[in-house]
Amino acid sequence: MSQHLLTVDSLARENVDHLLRVAARMEPIANRRQVTRVLEGAVLGNLFFEASTRTRVSFNAAFCRLGGSVCDTTGFTFSSMAKGESLYDTSRVMSGYCDAIVMRHPDQGSVAEFAAATNVPVINGGDGPGEHPSQALLDLYTIDKEFQRLNKSLSGAHILLTGDLKYGRTVHSLIKLLSLYGPLRITLVSPPGLEMPSALIDLVASRGHRIEQRSSLACDFSDLDVVYATRIQKERFTDEMNESFQGLSGDFMINRDFLGQRCSPSTIVMHPLPRDSRPGANDLDVNLNGDPRLAIFRQTDNGIPMRMAIFATLLKVDALIDEDQRPVRWFVPSQTGTLDR
Ligand code: NCD
Repeated sequence: MSQHLLTVDSLARENVDHLLRVAARMEPIANRRQVTRVLEGAVLGNLFFEASTRTRVSFNAAFCRLGGSVCDTTGFTFSSMAKGESLYDTSRVMSGYCDAIVMRHPDQGSVAEFAAATNVPVINGGDGPGEHPSQALLDLYTIDKEFQRLNKSLSGAHILLTGDLKYGRTVHSLIKLLSLYGPLRITLVSPPGLEMPSALIDLVASRGHRIEQRSSLACDFSDLDVVYATRIQKERFTDEMNESFQGLSGDFMINRDFLGQRCSPSTIVMHPLPRDSRPGANDLDVNLNGDPRLAIFRQTDNGIPMRMAIFATLLKVDALIDEDQRPVRWFVPSQTGTLDR
């Protein structure tokens, strides 16, 4: 695996399989049954220049669960970039303080530019509408775990990606990662103007998958294995786009009716979150809460073992995990959420 994790393009199938295996070995630690100190003394720099809750906190928690410590900064206002510092200088400075760096930035390509100035491993936590490789890895890990539970295989699976496929960086990384597996049937449904970039569609088709684009969710999805919904990324819209989107109703909403009428009892529902829960939003409806097919919180939980696997692999302690463990000593509830089944 290469030194940084900037794009899923740097991952061969064997690298991904390795990360899936290491993530599975991290589960007892991520689930708070065991403790490890393999990263004792190591420091993570968590630099988030765009809004984030789960990515920032889960990278932070994953590093701490491996025994490391975290220094972080959020937003431009309180960083020296507000004084005109370049990505190069910031990168060199942070490399003197930290053993690994996670960065989120609104500009596509910025995290790669930052990584070019350092020999410390850099992970792309989202670069504008570009990529979000760790999210795609935890999404694939989730699909793999859910399929094992349901006795399904990725080979021949039918996956629907819906929502903002133009600006949604999670689906850009995920579709490329999925294309290493299969063969798959992938259906893309997005509001007009928010279609998946054609280069990604061509890439997936060239790898032998069946890929179809549709403009509506009103189809038969009875053989669907996964619905992966995404939020409309309004913060990336131009003014004209904002105007044209005001008229959209809930046509692209994934809700109880869609799942009940068009899908099957074993279709799982995923979303990178956050979902827009305001009335009229074209997003994943809260009326699916409590439905066991809703995998979104199992998906967020899976962010911890996968991000632990990424750190352990990049910092080359992945082989030490099994020998460096002891049981936890504090109280841990049997379920972490009150809606969990
Ligand atoms: C996504 C992101 O930031 O790209 N969230 C996440 O990291 N889990 C999706 C989004 O913001 O809609």
